[in-house]
Amino acid sequence: MQLKINPSRSLKGEITVPGDKSITHRAILFALMAKGQSCIRHPLISGVTSTMLSAVEMLGASYFFEGGDLFLTSPGLFELNPPGEPLDCKNSATTMRLLAGVVSAAGITAALDGSDGLRRRPMNRIVEPLKRMGVQIDAAEGGQAPLKISGRSPGQNLKGLHFESSVASAQVKSCILLAGLAADSPIVIVEPALSRDHTERMLRSLGVQIETTWKRGCSLVVLQPGGNAFLRPLDLTIPGDFSAASFILVAALITPGSEVILRRVGLNPSRTGLMVTLQEMGADIQVLDQWEEAGEPVGDIRAAYSKLRGGSVSGQRVVEMIDEFPIFAIAASFAQGATEVRDASELRLKESDRIRMLCAELSRQGINVSERTDGFTIFGNGIAPGGAVAEPHGDHRLAMSLAVLGLNAQQPVLVSRAHILAESYPEFPEVLLALGADVLSLPEENSIGGQLG
Ligand code: S3P
Repeated sequence: MQLKINPSRSLKGEITVPGDKSITHRAILFALMAKGQSCIRHPLISGVTSTMLSAVEMLGASYFFEGGDLFLTSPGLFELNPPGEPLDCKNSATTMRLLAGVVSAAGITAALDGSDGLRRRPMNRIVEPLKRMGVQIDAAEGGQAPLKISGRSPGQNLKGLHFESSVASAQVKSCILLAGLAADSPIVIVEPALSRDHTERMLRSLGVQIETTWKRGCSLVVLQPGGNAFLRPLDLTIPGDFSAASFILVAALITPGSEVILRRVGLNPSRTGLMVTLQEMGADIQVLDQWEEAGEPVGDIRAAYSKLRGGSVSGQRVVEMIDEFPIFAIAASFAQGATEVRDASELRLKESDRIRMLCAELSRQGINVSERTDGFTIFGNGIAPGGAVAEPHGDHRLAMSLAVLGLNAQQPVLVSRAHILAESYPEFPEVLLALGADVLSLPEENSIGGQLG
């Protein structure tokens, strides 16, 4: 599928976004570890979460959907099946890294593999700490997938760990914490900045003893042994995904005359850095109402067309908006003045090298951008020429961001291979259309196609 985005009139309306991707992944894994049936309401149903569900099925769980809710039944952490074949994590690093933690806690033998893209992503960052905990795990050369975890004798615990991570990564932290549920002494994780803390919040809400503090500019998480107490089925509602909401927020900010309301969006502060940065750049975004669900802050957000000025992002803020740089770059392209991103070299290790690909794709659309090792600078003048075919490079967030660019570019933007957006937000084209955007879905090979919806 290709998406053709024509310069659009104002976007207006009220929407809900799909369930949070990170929290859905965790909820599926927590349901897998619990014995019995769990109910996960408003989950994200998309490419990456289907990947996780297929993997947990191979480990002995079964599931069905009813009215958009997910019901998952598991034999429990200590009765999981060693899968006969490798668990296929496809293109999902969250699936591979978090699942490696659960398989390690379960003490079963399993191999984890994925797409060529996933095989290029760094896995040493989980292999090394898991080994130190006593997990027998092997990676391919270079510390990459496939991973092979060997089972332990029943009743044999893992060791506690004091781990100083060189990167702030919620996937690394969560992998260690999940494996740590089978450890016989405390797990201490030090991160250079606080990465998203959904795993800690979910563990805490299930009664597991886990503390988070700041020490000498670092984030410190301590998990006490005996965490198995949490192994009871879940019944929770997943908040809307702030990362999915970001595409709609920026679409409203850059399209003249727009005003959009997004309901029930997750507002965990370790995720909402984009909103704060855009507000600093002059964005008209407000949280209308905020409450708590399943240990996570949730709220309604309103965003309206705004004249943005250039801004800058570095340090802890990078971590709080780590998935939002593709869409942030679009907002920055329409701002007046330079926007600088530093300390963001992790972006090179995502679904694509997001620094290189973003810079290449933005220049192709006539935007003045300069690449650095740890970030980029966009020289905005309030106008984006557009008019080129955009290539998402197999990256769902790049596909949606380049589509948003087309909403206020001077010429239409055609996003090729746009089907990839279904990895995290399958309804995205229809949502844009419902808000009033001029979006066409076309077959990949030629330009004959119909209007979406
Ligand atoms: C995620 C953590 C982040 C993020 C990814 C989801 C998670 O990755 O980019 O989309 O669910 O824990 P890192 O931990 O590699 O920063």
